[in-house]
Amino acid sequence: MTPDLMEEGAQRVARHSGIDPGGNTESGGRAAGFGRHATPGEVDVTHGRILYLEDVSVSFDGFKAINKLSLDIAPGELRCIIGPNGAGKTTMMDIITGKTRPDSGTVYFGSTIDLLRHKEADIAQLGIGRKFQKPTVFEQLTVFENLELALKTNKGVKHSMLFRLDSAQSDRLAEIIETIHLADSVTRMAGNLSHGQKQWLEIGMLLMQDPKLLLLDEPVAGMTDEETARTAELFLTLKGKHSLMVVEHDMSFIKTISEIVTVLCDGSVLAQGTLDEVQADERVIEVYLGR
Ligand SMILES: Nc1ncnc2c1ncn2[C@@H]1O[C@H](COP(=O)(O)OP(=O)(O)O)[C@@H](O)[C@H]1O
Ligand SMILES: [Mg+2]
Repeated sequence: MTPDLMEEGAQRVARHSGIDPGGNTESGGRAAGFGRHATPGEVDVTHGRILYLEDVSVSFDGFKAINKLSLDIAPGELRCIIGPNGAGKTTMMDIITGKTRPDSGTVYFGSTIDLLRHKEADIAQLGIGRKFQKPTVFEQLTVFENLELALKTNKGVKHSMLFRLDSAQSDRLAEIIETIHLADSVTRMAGNLSHGQKQWLEIGMLLMQDPKLLLLDEPVAGMTDEETARTAELFLTLKGKHSLMVVEHDMSFIKTISEIVTVLCDGSVLAQGTLDEVQADERVIEVYLGR
């Protein structure tokens, strides 16, 4: 990737935002943009679930980190997961993404893809994106370059050197930059962004791959109140076009974005319902919310 090509790309993005200042409607334009990009293989959601876990267990040195966990998520749903430290929230994401193999149980993506038969890299390719707690953007590259790079992962060096965004990809990149509130920072070095902006950039990098399901582990930890509010807004715009599983401790953030909240404890589901319902649940108060 040469600097002039970068510059050209950045200008194209700037032009795009200039010509069409918020011209896309929230529902029409962006939804069409995300939908347009074809990803390899289709996920069969005719049974009303994008993710399905049943009776999943895993032990580490005899300690049951996940214990007969069953849970499912509907297409387009934004599911919040809460629970005390050590409840197994991150381990659950490790299992879904193929990082950890469970000892027993069933994990399906849609009704036909058995995730336990796939490796971690394949699972990402199938359309499951994961955001770890710590931002992992390339600090020495610009916002634009980071997003562009997100399209090149898992391709060979030769492919990367010859790589050029096609016009659909440039359009999508421009759309995503708007979505993650970084339109004014296209040419900034990622290392100079605030913590919150880095988190948004990383979410943007995941979106470049057009994941059907996004797993987000404590995405607003360390953010300012304003950044947290913007992140809530962002997640609400992603809902519907993507399915999201969000692990968080920040209850006011959960209150803003949540529909169904699942409470994990000791590796399985302790309670599930609206935030008001689970907050009123005696068992949840006991183990997590405190008296
Ligand atoms: N690779 C591992 N090896 C050993 N123990 C682990 C491993 N991963 C997680 N655990 C243990 O499993 C439990 C659940 O951890 P984790 O999933 O990180 O919880 P949470 O994300 O809900 O705080 C913890 O007791 C943790 O120490
Ligand atoms: Mg965790």
